[in-house]
Amino acid sequence: MTKKRLAIFASGSGSNAEKIAEYFTGRTDIEISLILSNNPQAGVIARARRYQIPVVLFDRKTFYDTHRIIEILQNEHIDLVVLAGFMMLIPEAMVQAFPDKIVNIHPALLPKYGGKGMYGHFVHEAVVAAQELESGVSIHFVNERYDEGDIIFQATCEVIPTDTPEEVARKVQVLEHQHYPEVVDKLLSALNS
Ligand code: GAR
Repeated sequence: MTKKRLAIFASGSGSNAEKIAEYFTGRTDIEISLILSNNPQAGVIARARRYQIPVVLFDRKTFYDTHRIIEILQNEHIDLVVLAGFMMLIPEAMVQAFPDKIVNIHPALLPKYGGKGMYGHFVHEAVVAAQELESGVSIHFVNERYDEGDIIFQATCEVIPTDTPEEVARKVQVLEHQHYPEVVDKLLSALNS
C-alpha cells in the first residue's frame, strides 16, 4: 500500500497543524511529509520539530513569482495540501496544479465573514459586532479567491450576547481541533491511490 502524503501550510501558532499531526501519529497509511510556512517566527515550526516533520520556509517573492513551492510539492508526491491558519492567497498556478487537492479551514460560517482581511480575531470581532447567535467552522476547497471554494464541512457553536471575541474564538477552536483531522482523513481515504 502506498502511503498518502500530506503537506500542511501554516503562518502562525499551528495548533490545528499539531492536532492533525497528533491524529495521524502511528498511522501507516498516511504521512505528513512537510510543513510549509511563510513566517520564520511561526509557532508551527517548533511544533513541527516535535513531530519530526520537515519544515520548508519561503518568502512572498518565491511563492508568487516562481513555481518553486509547486515543484517541492510535486517532488514530494503530495496528495493533499492542508491550509491551517495560512494567511496568504494561494497563487492560481498552484490551484491549477492541485485541483480539488487544497483545503482550508475558516473560523466562521462561510459565506459570511470570509474574504480578504477576514482572518483570526478579525472574524470573531465581526461576529460579535453583528450580534450573531451562532458561529462555527467551515472547511472548504481552495480556489483563487479568499474563502470562496466549495464547502466540504461546517459545524456550529452558540454565541451568547455576553460572549467576547476571545470567547467565540475559544468555542470555534474547539470545533476546529475536533473536526479538521477527521475531515482530512475522510478526504484522503476518498482519493484514488
Ligand atoms: C484558525 O482559527 C484558522 O481557522 C484561522 O487561523 C487560525 C489558526 O490557528 N484561519 C483563518 O482565519 C484563515 N482565513 P492555529 O495556527 O492555532 O492553527
